Amino acid sequence: MFSHHQMIINSIVVVILLFNGLLLPSKAKEVPFDNYYSITYGNDHVMLFNQGREVQLSMDVDSGAGFGSKVKYGSGFFHMRIKVPGRNSAGVVTTFYLRSNTTNHDEVDFEFLGNKEGKPYTLQTNVFANGVGDREQRTLLWFDPTADFHSYQILWNPNQIVFYVDNFPIRVFKNNTAIGVGYPSQPMQILASIWDGDDWATDGGQTKIDWSYAPFEAHYQGFNVDGCPFLDNHTRNCASSNYWWNRRKFWKLNAHQEKLYRDVRKRYMNYDYCVDRNRHPVPPLECRSNSYL
Ligand SMILES: *[C@@H]1O[C@H](CO)[C@@H](O)[C@H](O)[C@H]1NC(C)=O
Ligand SMILES: *[C@@H]1O[C@H](CO)[C@@H](O)[C@H](O)[C@H]1NC(C)=O
Ligand SMILES: *[C@@H]1O[C@H](CO)[C@@H](O)[C@H](O)[C@H]1NC(C)=O
Repeated sequence: MFSHHQMIINSIVVVILLFNGLLLPSKAKEVPFDNYYSITYGNDHVMLFNQGREVQLSMDVDSGAGFGSKVKYGSGFFHMRIKVPGRNSAGVVTTFYLRSNTTNHDEVDFEFLGNKEGKPYTLQTNVFANGVGDREQRTLLWFDPTADFHSYQILWNPNQIVFYVDNFPIRVFKNNTAIGVGYPSQPMQILASIWDGDDWATDGGQTKIDWSYAPFEAHYQGFNVDGCPFLDNHTRNCASSNYWWNRRKFWKLNAHQEKLYRDVRKRYMNYDYCVDRNRHPVPPLECRSNSYL
C-alpha cells in the first residue's frame, strides 16, 4: 500500500520540481544553531553535533527539552528538518511551532504525536489567534518520519499561513479577518521541544509513555531563518514585499499546489476540526470560507 502511495508521491515530487519553483530549499545556507537559537529548557537533555548544525533533544522520566529563536518574527518562511523519535514513542510529543509570548497568544503548531511500535505517527497542526485555538487537523505521513530527516515548513504572511511537509502544502489558513476570523498578527518566537503528552497525544490519552524505551530523541537540522526579525525597540514593516515570502506569488496557492493540497488531504488527513460536529455543531466561519475545499 505504501509503495503505491510512494509512487504517486514520487511523480508528484517531479511535478513540484518542474513547475513549482516555489520553496527554495535552504541547504546551501547551513548555519550553527547558536546563530539564531538558544536552549529554552532541559539544558542537560540537549546535544549539539556537527559544529552545531544538528541538535538532539531528548526526554527521559526526569525532563524533556526545548529550544527557541533568540528573537521574535513578524512574518516569514520558517522551516526545520526533523527526525522524530523512533521505537515505541506513544505519548511522546515532538514539536516545531511559532508562538507569541502574550496573554491572548497567537500560535502556529506542528506537533508529532508518537505511537506504539509499528503504528504510524500522526502529525497534528493547529492555529491560535488572539488566544483562540481548537483548530486541530491531523494527518498521516507518506513516509516514516523516524527513519530520516524531512522538512516541515510554515509560510506566514499577511494573506495566508501554509503548512508544508517536504514542500507539499498540507494545510492553508487564510487571513479571513475581513469576515471576523482571527489571524495571527503578533510577533512570534520559533520554538521546538520534546515533551510528555501522554494525557492526550495517543489514543486520546489512553496509551501512555513506556519509559523503558527512554530516552526519546528528536533531531533537528536547518537553523537558518527566513523571517522578518521583530525587535521591541524598533518597528519594522514585516508585511513589506521586500521579503520574498510576502510577494503576490505567495498570497495563495497556485493551481499545481492546490492540486497537491487536495490530493494530500484526501489521502492522508484523518481528522479535521472543520467537520467535527461534536465539537463544532456549526462549522467555524473559516471552514465555511475555505475556497480550496
Ligand atoms: C514571556 O513574557 C514574560 C513576561 O513579559 C517574560 O518574563 C518571559 O521572559 C517571556 N518569555 C520568553 C520566552 O520570551
Ligand atoms: C489580514 O488582512 C487584513 C485585510 O483584510 C489586513 O488589514 C491585516 O493586516 C492582515 N493581518 C496580518 C497579520 O497581516
Ligand atoms: C534594539 O535591540 C537589539 C537587541 O535587542 C540591539 O541589538 C539593537 O542595537 C537595538 N537597536 C536600537 C536602535 O537601540
